[in-house]
Amino acid sequence: MSFDDAIEALSTDALKFVSDGQILGLGSGRAATAFVKSLSRLVRAGDVDIRGVPTSLQIKMAAQLGGIPLVEADQVGCIDVVFDGADQIDSQGFVIKGGGGALLRENILIGMAEKVVIMADSSKFVTNLARPVPVEVHQLARTSAIQKITDLGGRPSLRKLERGYPFITENGNIILDCDFGTITEPESLRQKIIAIPGVMECGIFTRIPDVIYMADIGGRFETIV
Ligand code: A5P
Repeated sequence: MSFDDAIEALSTDALKFVSDGQILGLGSGRAATAFVKSLSRLVRAGDVDIRGVPTSLQIKMAAQLGGIPLVEADQVGCIDVVFDGADQIDSQGFVIKGGGGALLRENILIGMAEKVVIMADSSKFVTNLARPVPVEVHQLARTSAIQKITDLGGRPSLRKLERGYPFITENGNIILDCDFGTITEPESLRQKIIAIPGVMECGIFTRIPDVIYMADIGGRFETIV
């Protein structure tokens, strides 16, 4: 048994939050992909008539492969449930997201959602957030945003692909991974980062999820909200 087994098991359990006729937000990454696989089995069996809203090309392709009907976020006014992963979760339920670079679209969907379900393995649960915060920035604000984030006490690092090319998001922006050490006031830090001109999104998500699944190395899972 492994984390992957537990993620697969919890993604099947999370189907209990799906009802006929719903619009579902599909996050990005490993946990969201596991959920999409479980959801596609339900859809293919003809058990539910739902539509998915993708947060990235990665999850869009996974959903298309699974036969899940899709709509874009701007075609719907609200979303019933968002299912997504996380990079880190603190004891209050604040979350760091954006490891895959999909933070802008993920936060749009979370802001539209009636219910948010987060699925992650136990290695991501901490007392205080402490990993670098992904910050999506307009390309022309690169230098000024680096300066302003440094002024806030962060150490920004431009996310790069192999051979040094900058990582460009699906929205045409860059990502600065910003090390703030241990983050004791996530809401306040998010407000300061998001106020910087040219910042499109900050990877500290302050909407507390309605459901948080935690998978452990033994292949088990539990809900902690
Ligand atoms: C995508 O930008 C991220 O927010 C992901 O949701 C996050 O990195 C979790 O991904 P995994 O489920 O692959 O760990």
